[in-house]
Amino acid sequence: MTAPRQRPVSASFSTSGAMPKISHGEGVYVYDADGNRYIDGSSGPALFCLGHGNREVGEAIKSQIDRIAHGYRYIFSSDPLEQLQALIAEESGGDLNRMIFVSGGSEAVESCLKVALQYHSANGETSRRRFISRRRSWHGNTLGALSVSGFLARRTPYEGALIDSSLLSPVNIYRPPPNVAPGEVAEFCATELEQEIERLGAENIAAFIFEPIVGAAGGVVPAPPGYAARIRDICDRSGVLMIADEVMCGVGRCDAWRALAVDDVTPDIMAIAKGLAGGYLPLGAAVFRERLHERILEAYGEVISGHTYTGHTTACAAGLAVQTIIRRDRLVRKASADGRYLRERLGEAIGNLDFVGDIRGRGLFIGIELVADRETKEPYDPELQLFARVRARAFANGLICYPTGGNVDGRRGDHVILAPPYTASRAELDEIIDKMATTLRQVREGI
Ligand SMILES: Cc1ncc(COP(=O)(O)O)c(C=O)c1O
Repeated sequence: MTAPRQRPVSASFSTSGAMPKISHGEGVYVYDADGNRYIDGSSGPALFCLGHGNREVGEAIKSQIDRIAHGYRYIFSSDPLEQLQALIAEESGGDLNRMIFVSGGSEAVESCLKVALQYHSANGETSRRRFISRRRSWHGNTLGALSVSGFLARRTPYEGALIDSSLLSPVNIYRPPPNVAPGEVAEFCATELEQEIERLGAENIAAFIFEPIVGAAGGVVPAPPGYAARIRDICDRSGVLMIADEVMCGVGRCDAWRALAVDDVTPDIMAIAKGLAGGYLPLGAAVFRERLHERILEAYGEVISGHTYTGHTTACAAGLAVQTIIRRDRLVRKASADGRYLRERLGEAIGNLDFVGDIRGRGLFIGIELVADRETKEPYDPELQLFARVRARAFANGLICYPTGGNVDGRRGDHVILAPPYTASRAELDEIIDKMATTLRQVREGI
C-alpha cells in the first residue's frame, strides 16, 4: 500500500530553494556569506532575545569552556548551574523553584510531562496517565511533546504512533469556536476542559498543557483575561496538574518574565527554553513547584528524568549571562514598552491593507493574520502558500520574519510572527515595520 502523499502546509521553516550560508551577526542584523544584510524581525523563531554577537555572552561562554566545558550531572554541580537555578527560581516566583535543565523546548516539555506522571505515581495515583491540550498548539517534535501538540502538518506523518491525548478547541477570540461569541470564548473553552475531565474521569488525567500565548501554531494568540484563572481553578478542583508551555512566550517576551504572571496565575510545571540562553547555546528547563518535588523525593529519592547534557555547564553559563543582562538592563520592561510601540505603529502601517485580518499579541510577540476577506475572515486557498510567499519576499527585502500556515484548521490560514530582540532600538523597530509593510504590499499585488 502506498502512503497518502500530503502536501506539507507548514511543516518546515526552510525557505524554498537553496538557503544562503550564514556568516555573522551583530545586534539585530545577520549577514550571509555573500555579504547580504538581514534585519532579524522575529529573532529567528523568537529565540535571540539579546540579538546576535553579544560580546558579554560570548566571553562568558569562552571563559567557561576554557576552564571546563561540562561537569556531568551525576558527578558534579557547578556555579553557573546553581546561580542560574537561583535566578530562574526568583524570576518564576512563589514555590516554582525546582528544575531540570535540558537542551531545548521539546525536551523541556517532555520533562514537564514526565514530572507530572512521576508526581502522580508518587501519590499512588497511577491511573492519572492522560494529557489534555488544545488544537492549534505546538509543544515540540519529540514523540511525547508531539502527541500533545495540535499542529496538523507536523503530526500527520506520525499518526498512529502518538500517545492518545485529548485535543480541545483553540482559545482564540478572532476565530471563536462555532456559535460562540468572542466574549464567551474564555468561559466556553474552560467549560470544555471541565467536561473533558468529567467525561474521562479526573482520576485518569495527569495534566492539562497549554501555551499561555499560542505561538507558531496559532500566530500569537493571547487568551482572553480570566481564562487562565478559570483553568487554574478547574485543575485545582480535579487534581489535574497545570503545565504552562512558555517556551516561546516566556522569559520576558510577553510583558513579564513569566507570561502567566500577567494573569496572576502560577502553573504547577512550566517549560522554558528559547530566550533562556538566547540562542547562544542549546538550553531549556522544566520548572516545577516545591511540593511536587517533595512528593517525588519522598517516593523515589530523585526525579527520574534527564539526559547526558542535563545542566550542561557551558550552556548554563550562557543562560546565566543572558539572564543577568536581561535583569541588569531592565529588558523585560523595555520589551513591554517597545511591544506596545510596535503594535501601534504596525497598525498604522499595515492595518488598512485589505488582506490584514488581525494584528494581535503581547509584549514583543506579535501576530499578523492574513485573510482573503476581512468581513468573513475567510482564509486564502492553502495551495497559494501565501505564508511562504511572505517569507520569501521578506527575505529578499532583507527582513527575517516567521510566517506559518494552517492556523485556521490545520491546513488553511496564513500568519506572520514578529518577535524582535528585546535589545532592538526604536529606529530598528521602525525598519522592521517599514520592511514588513513593503513586503505585504508586494505580496498582495502578486495574488
Ligand atoms: C511553545 C513551544 N513549545 C515547544 C517548542 C519546542 O521547542 P524546540 O524546538 O526547542 O524543541 C516550541 C518550538 O518552537 C514552542 O514554540
